[in-house]
Order: sequence, then structure tokens, then C-alpha cells
Amino acid sequence: MRILLAILPVALLHAQPPAPAPSKPPVRVRPQAYPDRPPAPAEKVERGKAVYGVNCTFCHGTDARGGSGGPNLIRNEVVLKDQDGELIAKVVREGREGMPKMNLTDAQVSDIAAFIHSFKVGGYDASRMTPETIVVGKADAGKSHFASTCAGCHSVTGDLKGIGGRITDPKVLQQTWIMPGSGRGAGARRVSPTTVTVTEASGKKTNGRLVRIDDFLVTVAGSDGPPRTFTRVGDVPRVELHDPLKPHKDLLAKYTDDDIHNLTAYLVTVK
Ligand code: HEC
Ligand code: HEC
Repeated sequence: MRILLAILPVALLHAQPPAPAPSKPPVRVRPQAYPDRPPAPAEKVERGKAVYGVNCTFCHGTDARGGSGGPNLIRNEVVLKDQDGELIAKVVREGREGMPKMNLTDAQVSDIAAFIHSFKVGGYDASRMTPETIVVGKADAGKSHFASTCAGCHSVTGDLKGIGGRITDPKVLQQTWIMPGSGRGAGARRVSPTTVTVTEASGKKTNGRLVRIDDFLVTVAGSDGPPRTFTRVGDVPRVELHDPLKPHKDLLAKYTDDDIHNLTAYLVTVK
């Protein structure tokens, strides 16, 4: 039984097609080809916009047509088939490569869905244009938020010295501090990859960069030699992940819109 458990998933995994590229269905989509959803109440869309703004904007863009790091969602198949957040909730709960899983309630995801579904599938909606400037917060409030939330790991006279001068586009700056590595633009640095330590039953340890992990396999790339894949059965081998961005992923769900605006306004001044 144990052996079966270990082998079966391997076969399943290999049978899987490569991850679909959700942003490029080659056919020209016509809005009427998709199910008409009754328009959601305005306040539901507004609530969704706020939750989306905090959790999804920096990767998928304010208008859900794609941002740094995340694809266009308007024509994404999951989104097109979704009615009321039920399919989107699954993505949010599971996460995707490059997208952390998030703890949002079904009601919150339903609101997000209402917001995303409020966009026209075809065409360009001028009212959804990004505002002129995203620097709309209060720098002093951002400074105290930084002191209470970020200063344990960062300092504006140390590792983040001059960050507002180094990253001159406030949008990129905002994306960078919310999710380092996602703000690909002038001045943004690459972040260190997630590393992993695999300890086999014999006590032998393998360290390296995490290539992939699921409940059944873990693949580690060392500095020399090809990547190694270990079959996981329960807690054997022992797997310890070191994700440098874990603190940022954990913080993601905690920011309010104001926190984000204020912190960005503050970091812009750190020259
Ligand atoms: C840190 C960046 C990031 C954040 C934050 C993020 N996403 Fe994503 N998202 C991605 C990436 C990257 C993909 C593409 C993954 C892939 O192609 O496998 C994606 C894909 C998706 C998809 C399509 C999944 C599919 O299988 O086609 C949906 C739907 C989605 N995201 C919704 C959301 C929602 C809703 C939020 C906010 C609650 C969110 N994302 C937050 C990066 C992000
Ligand atoms: C528990 C520790 C921790 C906390 C708290 C934390 N960060 Fe980070 N931060 C990190 C780590 C680790 C990295 C990635 C470093 C690397 O590349 O390995 C990082 C990266 C960054 C970067 C990218 C650095 C660059 O030069 O491009 C910025 C900007 C940043 N954090 C800002 C913030 C802000 C603002 C807060 C508070 C809202 C915060 N961080 C909270 C640990 C933390």
C-alpha cells in the first residue's frame, strides 16, 4: 500500500500537461460568448474592489488586466467559468506558481469575483484607468507603520537605505515592498529563492534550491550536479523549507488599503 501510494502520484504528476498559460487564448473572445451574469449590487463590487486591491492588485493590476507578475484575469478560463467566486476561491485557497495561497473567506472571494466580473470581457474600459499617481497616503502614518511592522527586519538607514531613490516608479516601489521580487522595474532587486533541507531516514541531508514540492515529491537543485527528486511518504524524508518571502506572504492578508498607501507614501521619501 505504501509503495502504491508513493508511485501512483508520480505517474499522475507526469501525466499532467504543463501549466496552461492562462493569459493567451488565441481565439478572439466575444463577450456574448460567455454566460451573462446578473450584475452584482454596487456595494458588493465596491467591497470586492477593496479586498482585491489589497490582495491581488500588485500582481494582476488594478483593472485585473495583468500587473507585474500576474496574468490578465479578465479572459482567464477559471474566471470566465466562475459564477460567484466558487472557482476563483479554489485558486486563492491553493495558490499557484508565483501566487501565494491566501486565507480569504468565501464571502470575500465572492466579493472579489463580483469586482472582477464587473469588467467587460472585450474592449477597454476607460473608467478603470490607473489613477495618475498612487502616492495618495500619509507619509508620517506610513513611517509609524514601518516602525511597528517592518523595522524588526529592515531599516531605512540600512538595507532599505535610499530605496525611494533607487526605485523611482512608485508603482514598482509599492509592488516591491508588498511582494519583493514582483515589482519588476528599474531598481528592484531579485529576491533569494526558497531553499530546502531534505533529511533522509539515514540522517543524510541534502540542501539546495527548491524546484518543486507537493505532498508526494520534493525536488532540490544543489550547486553541483542535476536536481534530485525525493519521494515523500508522510514525514519521510524530513523537509524543511526556508522561504525568504514567508514574512511578506504572511503580512499580505493583514494590510489595509490605508496601510499600503501610507507605507508607499513613506518609502517614496526614503531617498
Ligand atoms: C504574488 C503575485 C500574485 C498575487 C498576490 C495574486 N496572484 Fe493570482 N496569479 C499569479 C500568477 C503568477 C498566476 C499564474 C499562475 C500560473 O500560470 O500557473 C496567477 C493566476 C491566477 C488565476 C488563474 C489561475 C488559473 O488556474 O488559471 C486566478 C483566478 C488568480 N490568479 C486570482 C487571484 C486573486 C483573486 C488574487 C487575490 C486574492 C490573486 N490572484 C493574487 C500571481 C498572483
Ligand atoms: C520577518 C522579517 C520581515 C518583515 C517583518 C518584513 N520583511 Fe521585507 N523582506 C524580508 C526578507 C527576508 C526579504 C527578502 C530578502 C532576500 O532577497 O532574500 C525582504 C525584502 C523586502 C524588500 C525588497 C528589498 C529590495 O531592496 O528590493 C522590501 C522593499 C521590503 N522587504 C520591505 C518591507 C516592508 C515595507 C515591510 C513592512 C510592511 C517588510 N518588508 C516586512 C523580511 C521581512
